[in-house]
Amino acid sequence: MRGLLLTLSLFNPFTFLPLTAQVYLDESKPLEQRVEDALQRMTLDEKIAIIHAQSKFSAPGVKRLGIPDMWTDDGPHGVRPDVLWDEWEQAGQTNDSCVAFPALTCLAATWNPQLARLYGESLGEEALYRGKAMILGPGVNINRTPLNGRNFEYMGEDPWLASRMVVPYVQGLQSKGVAACVKHYALNNDEEYRHQVNVIVSDRALREIYLPAFEAAVREGGAWAIMGAYNLYKNQHNCHNSILLNQILKQEWGFDGVVVSDWGGTHDMDEAVRNGLDMEFGTWTDGLTMGATNAYDNYYLAECYKKAILEGRYTTRELDEKVRRVLRLHFRTTMNRQRPYGFLCSESHYEAARKIAGEGIVLLKNEQHVLPIQQNAKVLVVGENAIKMMTVGGGSSSLKVQREVLPLDGLLSQLPSMGGAGGGSYARGYVGDTVQSYNGVTVGRSIAESRTSAELRAEAVEKAKQADVVIVFGGLNKSDFQDCEGHDRRQYELPYEQNELVEALAKVNKNIVFVNISGNAVAMPWIDKVPAVVQGWFLGSEAGNALADVLTGRVNPSGKLPFTWFRQLSDVGAHSLNTYPGTWREGHDVIDEEYKEDIFVGYRWADLSAKRKKEMLTAHRSPLTAYRSTPLFPFGYGLSYTTFDVIVNGHEGGANVSVTVTVKNTGKVAGAETVQLYVGPNKPDNSRPVKELKAFQKVWLEPGESKTITLTASRQSLSVWDEAAGQWTFVPGTYRAYIGTSSNTNSSFKLNLL
Ligand code: BGC
Repeated sequence: MRGLLLTLSLFNPFTFLPLTAQVYLDESKPLEQRVEDALQRMTLDEKIAIIHAQSKFSAPGVKRLGIPDMWTDDGPHGVRPDVLWDEWEQAGQTNDSCVAFPALTCLAATWNPQLARLYGESLGEEALYRGKAMILGPGVNINRTPLNGRNFEYMGEDPWLASRMVVPYVQGLQSKGVAACVKHYALNNDEEYRHQVNVIVSDRALREIYLPAFEAAVREGGAWAIMGAYNLYKNQHNCHNSILLNQILKQEWGFDGVVVSDWGGTHDMDEAVRNGLDMEFGTWTDGLTMGATNAYDNYYLAECYKKAILEGRYTTRELDEKVRRVLRLHFRTTMNRQRPYGFLCSESHYEAARKIAGEGIVLLKNEQHVLPIQQNAKVLVVGENAIKMMTVGGGSSSLKVQREVLPLDGLLSQLPSMGGAGGGSYARGYVGDTVQSYNGVTVGRSIAESRTSAELRAEAVEKAKQADVVIVFGGLNKSDFQDCEGHDRRQYELPYEQNELVEALAKVNKNIVFVNISGNAVAMPWIDKVPAVVQGWFLGSEAGNALADVLTGRVNPSGKLPFTWFRQLSDVGAHSLNTYPGTWREGHDVIDEEYKEDIFVGYRWADLSAKRKKEMLTAHRSPLTAYRSTPLFPFGYGLSYTTFDVIVNGHEGGANVSVTVTVKNTGKVAGAETVQLYVGPNKPDNSRPVKELKAFQKVWLEPGESKTITLTASRQSLSVWDEAAGQWTFVPGTYRAYIGTSSNTNSSFKLNLL
């Protein structure tokens, strides 16, 4: 008997091939050899098991072969607390409180790829400690409408900026042996009806606007995983969309990693088998309430798939392909013996979070040098967002943090003369959402409030009369219908009567600083009545410290907007053309959303001539008539406490666009300016955007210092998608290059490109 067992174990029980050295365990062997070796040792059951979940956030390994379970977790701003095996409820662990890093809009606003690398590395270390092999992030869906509840999780409106920032994030994370799962691929640009939206978009807009950041994450970043989106494209759900997954991602881009379904995004076995899905998660996200003893066996890529193979409806060709990808993921992560050890909540992670936050905060307006705040100034802080935790809520990116410094506390620690919160230096001003617990994470401090909004306003106004400066912390929050997954915002306006509050305060105090906490632009009808506005994002654990750093001048702001800040919703292409949220298809559970603004998203739309906009409004029967409203703040814009001169020294055409620029700090404090190169046709004719971002560089300068830099845009990056040929084409000719410190620049010159 012993002899028989021994003989059997030398053979693969499934294929009966002789198995000798365990190549799959030998890290000196090429990856593909290890994959094939492991694959041929696996039984059908083992193969089926590893391609679908066994719990909310894990898929089994192969115990017999020593391949561990694969644990994953959200993402993208910190490692989500553990949930119960089959339910969304908290597991109640005591060792899963993490550092929250700033939301990805803030990271994008740093315009600093080195910080994206640091972000990825720090997050990777936290994930390792928590035993997670794959982080569900980063997100790179393009900001097409400021109503999208999840824009805060993404990197703005511009494909070039998002690409430059996502690549180092992915590389940093994966350098720790933790996979990035880039999401949500693709065209998941709003949340409303996210499971039913069928996006209709031109091939050109798909390629030029919506896919580049994914492509960069895969081709340059080498992402090991990607998550299919909930919505549909060409009437097929994106978690098993043959064009997006098989054709573009796997064939064209050569992606060798794993396609993971979004949780509950799988809808059909045959499509899941054939159209490129590799790992199924979250189907029937209500877990075992299916009534089955193990709902996971009922997944589309589970028992029914196995049965179909045994009945001969499929060969194991597709299955083996999926398994190879999952094995690669294991060798890169769980079975990578070179992985470092992880650590949670280290000081270096807090430092990284504070640095990223400090560099991402955007100074939007600063008249009469209201900012930075002087140490001896009598400061009044107003607003719920000064005392509200923002690392909880918002959906799957909600975190349980070891600590979160609130804006009021951050200011109190840096401006001790303000006095305690009870000492007259704080007024609530408005009430938003007082629920301070989310998905089992309860915030210690209560922010309950029983006074009416009129009473709160009156109190704030009275206190404001005595103050030198009033800092209002307002904006959105992470509650439903705000910056939150699952729904979009219902309005562009600020909620909770904040406009009334700001107007009332501005009447009694001329030094109002409005700090907008959000992941999206909001309407600011009172903009001319307040001298200072700061975009404060969702900044994570170090929010209060980072905001105080900037407000007091300890950090000189250098953030730049990663999206165009339109004055009103109807100024946004998608809304002026009345394309949002789409049109329900009669008799079907599908809502068609046609991206009628095409490639003209964000500043590309703002730049379009009034004539062309009018033509588009008419062609698409928009109820709007033409308008000519310039954005409140352009893409790429942000001020500093110092001033800079940007002088173009020379430029060259030929094979590439190459521009040499000297930047000088002409002010009194050290700071950073981000020089941006945009390129467009010499004579804009609406066939392509007036200009598009093609290179940028952030330059740090001491007072009086200058530096000379060269910005280069390759021919490749200037190509357009030729729909007829189905490929990128470069059109030689005369172009116009623009140098600026935002997209609103007139400094331009002609160049010939061959
Ligand atoms: C979200 C994903 C998230 C997943 C797991 C889904 O609802 O769309 O972004 O990673 O849940 O929490």
